[in-house]
Amino acid sequence: MKRAGVHHLGLVTLDLERTIEFYTNKLGWKIAWCDMMKPLAGGVVKHVFFDTGDGCFVSFMCPDKMPNVPAEFSTDLNTAQNLPGFFYHFAFWVDSVEELEEKRQSLTDKGVEVTGIGDHDWAKSIYFRDPNGMLLEYCVTVRPLGEEDQVMRDRSADNRMFGGHPDSPRWMQILSGRSSVSAAR
Ligand SMILES: [Fe+2]
Repeated sequence: MKRAGVHHLGLVTLDLERTIEFYTNKLGWKIAWCDMMKPLAGGVVKHVFFDTGDGCFVSFMCPDKMPNVPAEFSTDLNTAQNLPGFFYHFAFWVDSVEELEEKRQSLTDKGVEVTGIGDHDWAKSIYFRDPNGMLLEYCVTVRPLGEEDQVMRDRSADNRMFGGHPDSPRWMQILSGRSSVSAAR
């Protein structure tokens, strides 16, 4: 298939070490590229690209001593804008529900707090947060989408989410959770 989707996401961190530890050890992604950029205005930006596994990348810039860039800021886009914790988030492919379950187990084994599998009718997913407070998701499409799916309507009855599982309140906490600069560092 011709590629036309996301080449890379560009995110920001204040703690590159923790970010590298998380994306390489917890998610198992490989570092594909590193460089140090020297902005004209001064300071340094360390730059890392992680390969998600199929050639799509997630990159992080870590600014240091850049004039006009605060030494501390919220790296979680939702917290930065006082929005609900599930608004801005990034979802990555898995190919099957079995793989989603494996990802969930692997993250749990590595000490990452992760939700149960959410059932959105046409897709299933799990949610967790990176050390920068960003909400991440692994997602699998479980049925073909048709014309009816394109119609805007209330589908809350179809979106069973965690289906009233006893751990739902804790999992919803992960989704709505707030990070802070201190938590992100
Ligand atoms: Fe999502």
